Amino acid sequence: MQAPAPAAGLASIAAPAAAPTSPQPHTIAYDRYSLIIDGKPTYLWSGSFHYWRLPSPDLWADVLQKMKAAGFNAVEIYFDWGYHSPRRGVYDFSGIRDVDRLLDMARDAGIYVIARPGPYINAETDAGGFPGWLVTTAGKPRSTAPDYTAAYREWMTEIDRILARHQLTDGRGTVLLYQVENELYDDSADTRRYMQDIEDKAHADGITVPLIGNHNDNFFTGVGAVDMPGYDSYPADFDCTRPERWNNVYDFASERKRLTRSPLFFPEFQGGAFDVWGGPGYEACRKLTGPDFERVFYESNIAAGSTMQNFYMTYGGINWGWLSSPGVYTSYDYGAPITANRTLTTKYDQQKLIGYMTQAVPSLARTDAVATSAPDNPRLRVNARVNPEDGTRFYILRHADATDTSNDTTHLRIALGTKTETTVPQQPGTAIRIDGRDSKVLLANVHFGKQDLAYSTSELMTQLSLGDRDIAVLYGRHDEDGETVLRYAAEPTTQVIDGKVAMHWDAATHTLRLNYRHDGLARVAVHQGDSTLLLLIGDNEAAIRFWQLPTQAGPILLRGPYLARTAIHDGDRLALTGDTDAAGEIEVFTAPDTRGFSWNGVPVAANVTASASLQAHLDGPTPVSLPHLTTWHISEAAPEIAPAFDDSAWKAADRATTPNPYWNHKLPILDADDYDFHHGNVWYRGHFKATGKETAILLGANTGVHLGNHGIFTAWLNGHFLGNNPSGAQQFPIDPRWLKAGGDNVVSVLVENTGHLQEEHSGTFREPRGLIGASFAGAPTDIRWKIQGNVGGEALPDPIRGPFNAGGFYGERMGWHLPGFSDGRWATTTLPRATDKPGVDWYRTSFRLDLPAGQDVPIALRIHDIAPHHYRAIIFINGWQMGRYISDVGPQTDFELPAGLLNTHGDNTIAIASWSTAQDGGLGEVSLVAQGNLRSALHVGTVAAPDYEQVMQAQRALSKPAKGDATK
Ligand code: GAL
Repeated sequence: MQAPAPAAGLASIAAPAAAPTSPQPHTIAYDRYSLIIDGKPTYLWSGSFHYWRLPSPDLWADVLQKMKAAGFNAVEIYFDWGYHSPRRGVYDFSGIRDVDRLLDMARDAGIYVIARPGPYINAETDAGGFPGWLVTTAGKPRSTAPDYTAAYREWMTEIDRILARHQLTDGRGTVLLYQVENELYDDSADTRRYMQDIEDKAHADGITVPLIGNHNDNFFTGVGAVDMPGYDSYPADFDCTRPERWNNVYDFASERKRLTRSPLFFPEFQGGAFDVWGGPGYEACRKLTGPDFERVFYESNIAAGSTMQNFYMTYGGINWGWLSSPGVYTSYDYGAPITANRTLTTKYDQQKLIGYMTQAVPSLARTDAVATSAPDNPRLRVNARVNPEDGTRFYILRHADATDTSNDTTHLRIALGTKTETTVPQQPGTAIRIDGRDSKVLLANVHFGKQDLAYSTSELMTQLSLGDRDIAVLYGRHDEDGETVLRYAAEPTTQVIDGKVAMHWDAATHTLRLNYRHDGLARVAVHQGDSTLLLLIGDNEAAIRFWQLPTQAGPILLRGPYLARTAIHDGDRLALTGDTDAAGEIEVFTAPDTRGFSWNGVPVAANVTASASLQAHLDGPTPVSLPHLTTWHISEAAPEIAPAFDDSAWKAADRATTPNPYWNHKLPILDADDYDFHHGNVWYRGHFKATGKETAILLGANTGVHLGNHGIFTAWLNGHFLGNNPSGAQQFPIDPRWLKAGGDNVVSVLVENTGHLQEEHSGTFREPRGLIGASFAGAPTDIRWKIQGNVGGEALPDPIRGPFNAGGFYGERMGWHLPGFSDGRWATTTLPRATDKPGVDWYRTSFRLDLPAGQDVPIALRIHDIAPHHYRAIIFINGWQMGRYISDVGPQTDFELPAGLLNTHGDNTIAIASWSTAQDGGLGEVSLVAQGNLRSALHVGTVAAPDYEQVMQAQRALSKPAKGDATK
């Protein structure tokens, strides 16, 4: 099978549910050519998606369907240990963490899963996926250290148990491959034993699918070897500031040679790039890795013989809460084919064109490189491959220097059957065009249905057979010449239904030659004997409007809408689902006995066209307008600054020992992780008896330095602002009038924790967070520290929103971010609002949405500052932390509020905590923006989560609140 057949509709999509069927076991094998699933060589065309970066399960189904619709037959998924485990021994797989549901959705969407449970995953996420509680352990990570081993086995037991239930091998799901660890480029004996232990554990836990690796040349044989090794490759790098810059194509020939048992496999080939704080934004990353990049590099992989390509990322998502590792910001859009708000881009269109071909020409899964004549234009190069069994040939044509931007033309000499090479195109005065940074895969000697395609200088997007009729979609760049030659036993009858196509029958060679220019959509019908062919020849813009969907009775083709999701035959009618971005036509190519169809459950009136298709009109979305956020309630929210604040219930930061070998600073240990505060902002209050001689205070903090330094801490002495610093140590002068000589003095420090570093195998994720030292100049005065981060530390009062959602701001501890909190006594304000007072202010407002039913309107919250100010804001929608905005760093200003968290048919609460880090803080203008508007089959259920009362109750049950906390 080319891809698993989808179940009849997803739970969240308006389509009839499938009858339960008994599981069918499947075989997964592989050889040096390709994966072989149930005996069929299969081209793996896969994309990465992280469910934990999209905390609204119905939207998982949306992403998976969008991937399936674009021709992806697999999705690669990291499972994030830290996301599921707030404390040792505690694992949550419910709600937004319901991995069973995710894997069922993948099965229902008809898409294979490459499972990547780590234990280490990297992924620009906090500690590379290690849980917060692992930070303060001692053993070397990613080694056989006993404490590390005990920890990760705990996780593997939990996640393997779920993955094992969904394996393709026993037919209960579509888990196809299982990745062991992540990019471990270390071949030491200990690392090999560590790898072997994960593998033995997976097998003991019931994993039966092949084990894969993305460790480049490592773990091919011997202890720790994986079944299918793979190579990760990011040829465009990650510098989105220069999106025009290209690198050349690397030749994977030696890797191809090294892999003697398994195919050339890219577990991660570049699908976009992450952006950093202060970076150029994701549209630049999307340009860096745009459709031209996709064509040239992904087709070069085909030329190198790869039959397993996974793209990192296909949908990137959102680093909501404190999920990100230091350096990257809230959006993990990644410049991917599907944007963070689930919009389809030109990168998606391009991947669809190639992806469909990889599935439409099964011969591509088994090819050898073969010599071929060079193009007559020396600026160009061609690689040829042939399927040794059926003779299908693939010519991959691009510039010799892949960075070349010149537009060129050429002729190619291609092998047709056993004859000597033929120069194509044959039509005098025409040539094959290759523009700068373009690439084409041209086919020769292809058999499909009853057809025998000699060659085409157009690219084949897809082909399918409907009853007695074969259909092929060919395409080329707008206005380029194309030539297609088909073989027939005798002269066929032909009919140009649409467009301008010249035809020439050559009786000597038994070939029908079609010449045309790619412009809109041309249609040609060709009949000969019992063969009927409909050729649809489009320019790229026309081609991308086609969708091929599987049904119980084989594939169908349709054209027109923004997205086609599912198709089910129901007697002589077809039930289709999908999305439209505007009113327009839909054309359906389906079995001849199909009388009509419905769209999103509503029957539509269709005409039969000259192409023997069904055509109808579809409505677009109705326009939407969003409420203006005019009135805000505001409260000051940093009582910790005041000397009289009661911190008696806070933990004393007075420890003298820690297992964490990374604490190499003076005592006491101040690392927030040692006090179980792993995520978000942390308050420290230091009490000291002043001598009066203190002239300055030296404060050292580590907020997480990586890819630039955009964390921050701010400090106050007896309520007087000392200043701020990004990370590291700073001496703050003390005005003697601020000190109470002989009395209790307080220094209050608010420290951001931008996340734990990713792990390079040495323990970097253990780098301390929070204060790392404090001392006075002028006098050796001692300080006694108290610390307060998120309420409960590892014992979460709100496990639904989980460990990354809330930090240690006063308002977070008081539940001000939650729906149901009453801000009625707060003052009101409008935005923007400026303040000269460093500290933290909370802003709250509510609004009602009633979006038209059956529409998918991705909504974002926008913060707009005319000029940057010194503040950073944390954005909550209905209690969910969906954004971190830094006015003086950027670049993100629009924060996606995913449906499901956002109530699109009811009341919503926004809470924004703004931390003014200097005397020019405040909060900019805040508005809601629609990032799209689709009439859609998507239905999104509300994600259940506790409100203010429920969380407060849980908090009370956990511990007695701090006195100061209780009084405000
Ligand atoms: C890879 C890694 C991924 C991700 C990617 C960059 O090296 O395996 O997890 O971090 O780099 O986005």
